[in-house]
This record gives sequence, structure tokens and C-alpha cells, in this order.
Amino acid sequence: MSAYDVIVIGSGPGGYVCAIRCAQLGMKTAIVEGRDTLGGTCLNVGCIPSKALLHASHMLHEAEHNFAAMGLKGKSPSVDWDQMLTYKSETIGQNTKGVEFLMKKNKIDWLKGWGSIPEAGKVKVGDEVHEAKNIIIASGSEVATLPGVEIDEKVVVSSTGALELGKIPKKLVVIGAGVIGLELGSVYKRLGSEVKVIEFLDAVTPGMDAEIQKTFQRTLKKQGLEFQMGAAVQSVEVKNGKAKVNYKLRKDESDHVEEADIVLVATGRRPYTDGLGLEALGVTLSKRGQIETDAHYATNVPGIYAIGDCIDGPMLAHKAEDEGMAVAEFIAGQKPHINYNIIPGVIYTHPEVANVGATEEQLKEAGQDYKVGKFSFMGNGRAKANFAGDGFVKILADKNTDRILGAHIIGPMAGDLIHEICVAMEFGAAAEDLARTCHAHPTYSEAVREAALACNDGPIHS
Ligand code: NAI
Repeated sequence: MSAYDVIVIGSGPGGYVCAIRCAQLGMKTAIVEGRDTLGGTCLNVGCIPSKALLHASHMLHEAEHNFAAMGLKGKSPSVDWDQMLTYKSETIGQNTKGVEFLMKKNKIDWLKGWGSIPEAGKVKVGDEVHEAKNIIIASGSEVATLPGVEIDEKVVVSSTGALELGKIPKKLVVIGAGVIGLELGSVYKRLGSEVKVIEFLDAVTPGMDAEIQKTFQRTLKKQGLEFQMGAAVQSVEVKNGKAKVNYKLRKDESDHVEEADIVLVATGRRPYTDGLGLEALGVTLSKRGQIETDAHYATNVPGIYAIGDCIDGPMLAHKAEDEGMAVAEFIAGQKPHINYNIIPGVIYTHPEVANVGATEEQLKEAGQDYKVGKFSFMGNGRAKANFAGDGFVKILADKNTDRILGAHIIGPMAGDLIHEICVAMEFGAAAEDLARTCHAHPTYSEAVREAALACNDGPIHS
């Protein structure tokens, strides 16, 4: 038995970042992970591998659609799926090995196996029990299954199975027009699959600014994705390696069937806390299975904390990372703070979609007096040169004080562009502050400045 100041359970972005921060603050730290590699869902079967496939398939799209116009002639590349999967696996390997290196560098012990908490102050991994003054649960989330739909990871797959299909499907049906469905749906569309997305609601990506939702869906349709909106999937039948997706239209309750070679179930995720022994410990869970914590990430059992996807809030790697750092700092007696109003969200399609702060619908509902500054990437020189003129930047600011309340971008590098607005919001900036900040030319960032100008005197290039 060994004794630690902190044991972190789970090595995803929440857990491993938390462990590093604990070690930096002088605590003797161990991390528990049952997978063969560190990094959790994000690095092994989520964010990182999907970004590799998004990148590769986007390159193919560029070659097929834009190379000739730029004077780049030659045979269009064809897809070597096995090599693409190798590239994806190598990308995963580089990242997971990187985390392993960081653990060693920070003298964090990796306790290999699945952890449980037999009692406060103790973590059991395999046959060994380790003592810990503080236990931090960062056990993440798992795919939320749909009644009537059995995921076999062969024909009916979750995002995990969709990242390692035996071949590119002729026809892919995606259930759910959320982040996962649209990112992976667009990968396979670009690789040649016929892709149909079946969505319960009338708009894609629930919760996003409605104007962005509309433009995003229109853009994806232009790229060839098909949508069946307002449809509730009831069941999926698999016969002879093919699937039939049965769904009901909400408007008239009519029944329909869609055939598919592969069905991707992307209808959300739920907290994963199996096997930790939380019930016996008396740790309080919400109705949705999230571990309940106070503002310092402490559960109701002294010495046990929780962060990331297994607690309340958006299931985002960067939100988990911030909570990982914050809980370490709380334990060390510091006073960290996370501004939950300024957590950006990004969808890594092409064009990318990014948002931070309030949507226009939220401001309307709150009765807030606001103004809108918008600028299209069509007016941005760099975007035009790069065939990336689709999309716009939209900044929402308080009508009276000019303070930025939210921003929504669909366009090139939106996921990077959003951060200057995050920083501005963190410092309580007005749209005029952004507008008066010199932005290098020619960059996509100029579109952000123009949208800020549009909040007041008006943009220059439109
Ligand atoms: P999601 O919650 O984003 O979207 C699920 C969609 O499925 C919703 O639009 C919902 O209306 C629809 N749906 C539910 N039941 C249905 C039914 N019976 N028939 C038809 N449609 C139905 O969930 P998703 O895409 O699975 O992502 C899970 C989590 O992972 C999210 O919290 C997301 O934030 C996170 N994630 C984030 C990424 C990023 O930040 N780029 C990438 C991948 C995942």
C-alpha cells in the first residue's frame, strides 16, 4: 500500500491536467487508468482521432474541389482507408505517449487498472489498496444509448466504432444532428459515403444561436449531407449486415424506414461512474447520474471531489481541464475561479463553428437590450484567397454599455478566432475595444474586428 496526497481517477483531459497541477503544487499524486494508454475518451476515441479524420478528409475535399482552380493539376488523390486509419492511430499514439511522458516528468504514478473507492481516503486498483488524503473522480462519460437501438460497434456504431470502420460505408445514417453526428457525418460525406442525418428537433446543434444553426445546416446540405428533421428514431433492425432505421415524424406521427450500411448513434453522452462504488459510499448523484458537487468540486463525502463530464455542465474537454486545475488549486488552499459564461464551444467541420457567451435567443428571453454586429467572410481578403468565404462573425453587445455578451462564428478557423473574443469578454471589453485593436492584414481575424465595428459605426469592408 502506498499513500498519496491526491489520487485522480481517470486520465482524460480533466484527470491528467488535474494530476499535473496537483504535482506542480507539491502534492504526491497518482492517476488511475484502466485503458492501455492515457488520455481518456478524448485522446483515444474522441477529439483527437476525429480531428485526424476531419483533417485528412478536408484535404481530399480541397484536392477535389479547389486545387485545379489554384493551378494545381494532376491526378486527384484516392482514399487509402487503411493508411488513413494508420495516420489516425499514429496521431493518437503521439498524444497518449505525450501524456505518459508528462506523468513521468511530474513524478505522477500511473496506477494501472480500474479504480474503485472502498471507503473515503482509499482507492482500490486491482488487488491493491492505496491511501489518499484527497480523491478526485474524473471518470468522464459514455455514449447514451437509445431505447430500441443496440450498439454492436459493427453495423450500429457509436463515435468509437465510427472511428475504426472496416471500410467507408456506401450509405451512413446518423441519428442525431449534434456535434458528433455532424463532425463524423461530414468526414464520411467527404470520403464518398451517402450520408443522411435523422434529427428529433427542427434545427441542428441544439442550444446554438438560431442564425448559425440555419447557416450551418444550409452549408452542410450544400456539401451533400441530407437531413430528416423532426423525426424520432424508434428502433434499428440489423439483418445480414445491413440496417433499417425506423423513425416517426413528429408532425403527423407517420412511420418511415431508412436503410443503411452503417448507423451512427450520436444522441448524446451520459456521466460514466460505473464500478466506482459511489452508492455504497453515499456520494449524491443527480437524477441524470451526474456526481453532485459544491462550487469547490467537493462531493458530499469529505475528501472526495469530482470534475469534468461526470458532473454538471457542458461535456467539453476544455471545461474538464479547467476544473481539473481549479480543484487542485482549491485543495492547495488557493482561490481559483472559472467563468462558466465564457466557455467556448467549437464544431470542427469545414467551415468550423464556434461560440461563446449568450445566443441572440437567450438575450431576447432575458429581455436584454442588445445590438448585433455581423460581418461576412466574403468581405475578408484572406478568406476569399483561400476559398473560405462561406460564413460570418456575429457579435452581440449590450445596447447601452457596448459590453460584449456573446459571439458566434461560422467560417474558417472559427475555433481559433473565438478566443480573442473570449479574452475580451473575460476582461469585460466593449465591442469598441475590439474594434480599436489593430488586427494584422490579411488575416481571418480581421472579420472579428469588422463584426465589432459593425456593433457601432459599421464595418469598413461591406
Ligand atoms: P448532442 O447532445 O450534441 O446531440 C444529440 C442530438 O441527438 C440532439 O440534436 C438530439 O435532439 C438528437 N436526438 C436525441 N434522440 C433522438 C432520436 N431518438 N431520434 C433522432 N434524434 C435524436 O450529442 P452528441 O453529438 O452525441 O455529443 C455528445 C457530447 O459530446 C456533447 O455534450 C458534445 O458537446 C460532446 N462533444 C463535443 C465535441 C466538440 O466540442 N467538438 C465533439 C464531440 C462530442
